[in-house]
Amino acid sequence: MSEASRTVVRGGLVVTAADEVHADVLIEDGRVVAVAAPETEFAAGWSAARQIDARGRYVIPGGVDAHTHLEFPFGGTFSSDTFASGTTAAAWGGTTTLVDFAVQSRGYTLRDGLDAWHAKAQGNCAIDYAFHMIVSDVNERSLREMDLLVAEGVTSFKLFMAYPGVFYSDDGQILRAMQHGARNGGLVMMHAENGPAIDVLVEQAVAEGRTDPRHHGEVRRTLLEAEATHRAIALARVADCPLYVVHVSAAEALAELARARDAGLPVFGETCPQYLFLSVDNLAEPDFEGAKYVCSTPLRPREHQAALWRGLRTDDLQVVSTDHCPFCFAGQKELGRGDFSKIPNGLPGVEHRMDLLHQGVVDGHISRRRWIDIACAAPARMFGLYPRKGTIAPGSDADLVIYDPRASQVISARTHHMSVDYSAYEGREVTGRCETVLSRGEVVIDRRTFTGRAGHGRYVPRGTCAYLH
Ligand code: URP
Ligand code: ZN
Ligand code: ZN
Ligand code: ZN
Repeated sequence: MSEASRTVVRGGLVVTAADEVHADVLIEDGRVVAVAAPETEFAAGWSAARQIDARGRYVIPGGVDAHTHLEFPFGGTFSSDTFASGTTAAAWGGTTTLVDFAVQSRGYTLRDGLDAWHAKAQGNCAIDYAFHMIVSDVNERSLREMDLLVAEGVTSFKLFMAYPGVFYSDDGQILRAMQHGARNGGLVMMHAENGPAIDVLVEQAVAEGRTDPRHHGEVRRTLLEAEATHRAIALARVADCPLYVVHVSAAEALAELARARDAGLPVFGETCPQYLFLSVDNLAEPDFEGAKYVCSTPLRPREHQAALWRGLRTDDLQVVSTDHCPFCFAGQKELGRGDFSKIPNGLPGVEHRMDLLHQGVVDGHISRRRWIDIACAAPARMFGLYPRKGTIAPGSDADLVIYDPRASQVISARTHHMSVDYSAYEGREVTGRCETVLSRGEVVIDRRTFTGRAGHGRYVPRGTCAYLH
């Protein structure tokens, strides 16, 4: 073994979804080769070109954010983070793998969409990345292409019950895609909101002059999320297909997932930091500031937060991703002044998921290991990246974070690295901060200095969902 290609991380508390142990970690050629108690002769004997002192800190797996939209065409504009800026911001926040959504545009093939996303990402990413596929045109050809994509490592497909005329699929198309997923091992991800009903309420609200951002939250009723979630589960049962419901925000929708899981069905759920920390109060901020918080599913009344935290504890929700989809306030969110339905939907957040969830540990909502599970291990298992990603074990990629659990920071657009002109968490103080971040053994954040580069990140083909076999 050559000392030059080795790094050793000494003296930290290694936290994974399964364990918390004081251990040294030996890295060689971008992979973890050993994890051992510091006092052992074995660990003491490791020589390495780089030594990282992690005493008094946690050593955690790099985060896996399984839901981002970089350079995403939506609402007549594009999300403001590129693959370069978005992956760099992710690295700052301790996330070392993204699964972004490639988009099939109407009238085009899945292959066209996937090729376009590879072209955007290739050579531009600071951390590793993979793709899901948004299927917005379910037809015979798309269904056949799903098989090919699964075989090449794009093993999950997002369908929309919302956004008629854009990404929307009707129940028949959804059933067909699910039947196909049941055969090819792909996981169907669902945006569960009753889009046609919401569009009626949107039209009525705007006609009546209820045009402020807060009405976005009012028309996208919790009942219409719960109903769609229920319907998606029923369709998945008919198709005998597993289901992953994205960005769950309403307690009533979560109750549908819990009921399905209690019945033993292969149904999974994701929520996002915005639903755990923000609420309709933000949507009601004056002077059009509420537009900063327009996303779908929408922010809910505060009471829903406790239900979501509970769902994370009880494993009715398995994953927290960001649904990072940033639009600048100036020039982008402003497209919807005077008509909330024209505000591009989406929130920035890829940089702060690990810290906000750590705040959930500090606040007593979840345990430390659960933090790592929902942010690293479960998304890696769900989307066929485990154990290469999501844990610290011999053979895993050396994606890890030296995390200072006592540092305090104030989140602000003045200091964040996302390419967007506001923060949804402006002024919020959180306890805990990433100090040093490694991606495949390379130090990309060194004690709060960026040392990575766009182009270091590699495309990672994925296996199928590990919860199903
Ligand atoms: O508002 C959101 N969530 N924008 C991104 C697209 C989606 O539905 O995930
Ligand atoms: Zn097939
Ligand atoms: Zn969605
Ligand atoms: Zn999304």
